[in-house]
Amino acid sequence: MKILAIESSCDETAAAVVENGQVVLSNVIASSAAKHAETKGVVPEVAAREHMKVILPTVELALSQAACDWSAIDAIAVTWEPGLLGSLLVGRATAQALAYALDKPLIRVNHIHGHVYSTWLEQDDEPQFPILTLTVSGGHNLLVYQRGHGDMEILGSTRDDSAGEAFDKVARILDLGYPGGPAIETLARTAVRHDLRFPRAHLEGFDFSFSGLKTSVLYHVKAHPIEDDAERAEIAWAFQEAAIDALLTPLFAVLEDRDVREVHLTGGVSANLRFREKLSEGVGPGLRLRFPARMIYCTDNAAMIGAAGYFDKARS
Ligand code: KG4
Ligand code: ZN
Repeated sequence: MKILAIESSCDETAAAVVENGQVVLSNVIASSAAKHAETKGVVPEVAAREHMKVILPTVELALSQAACDWSAIDAIAVTWEPGLLGSLLVGRATAQALAYALDKPLIRVNHIHGHVYSTWLEQDDEPQFPILTLTVSGGHNLLVYQRGHGDMEILGSTRDDSAGEAFDKVARILDLGYPGGPAIETLARTAVRHDLRFPRAHLEGFDFSFSGLKTSVLYHVKAHPIEDDAERAEIAWAFQEAAIDALLTPLFAVLEDRDVREVHLTGGVSANLRFREKLSEGVGPGLRLRFPARMIYCTDNAAMIGAAGYFDKARS
């Protein structure tokens, strides 16, 4: 089954053709990140207008790169929610119009389900349930337990900011670019001193919280104005360590509590190599660990929407 998938929930306009939920025939992303770098964050109105300019060429390119014409497409999947409303509406309206005009089934996909299924793309073998997925991006932060397709139990979520948002806000405090995650990771790698420590929030259950950590960084910088790049790097490193620990503590707590066969790490923040390293160190040898097969499947993309549309909806 070939699905044409469309994603436009934030600042990436994306289209992909995915076969049977795992084989990516094309994956096109037109990002307006450069525009948002100027404003150091996403301006919803600007994002929606950029989607309108590029969505049809992006869909056409995805079809041509997959060497498909419309007759080869069995269904159209689109990110339905959550996201920026104006941005979502561009993708929804495009997918609805195409499905109606071409008489194809329309599959409405939850964006977070897309991130959860990003670890199913281009894998040599099929993941085995039960699976615990930690999905961490700019807009969301969730611990999801799956016993099978169409069965997602949310065990934990953020009480305030998502981790990605905290990375972006701390990058602003440190005067780094947008998106902040990659900038902090790169700078943290250059840190020479590793003495600074920011507090980790300890919550009941499996929830997360990042606003206290962000505020600690802000107060630290106000009390000790940054004098050179070495200090900036030390703060980036200390923040990154605290943020990763705050993400991993609830995950390790679930592993004590539930039967789990595989642990998956997805979403934009899963591109962070220090995060992957700490997770690998903490997970025992009996568990299979999976990350998205390519970095491009960590951040927003349409291939993951095609995978979720297939496994979560079309097949179940
Ligand atoms: O999944 P995504 O592309 O968009 C949302 O659905 O929100 O995630 C974007 C987030 C941004 O906050 C960005 O700073 C973060 O992922 N991010 C990273 C890294 N690459 C992207 N955070 C930490 N380290 C990275 N290498
Ligand atoms: Zn996302």
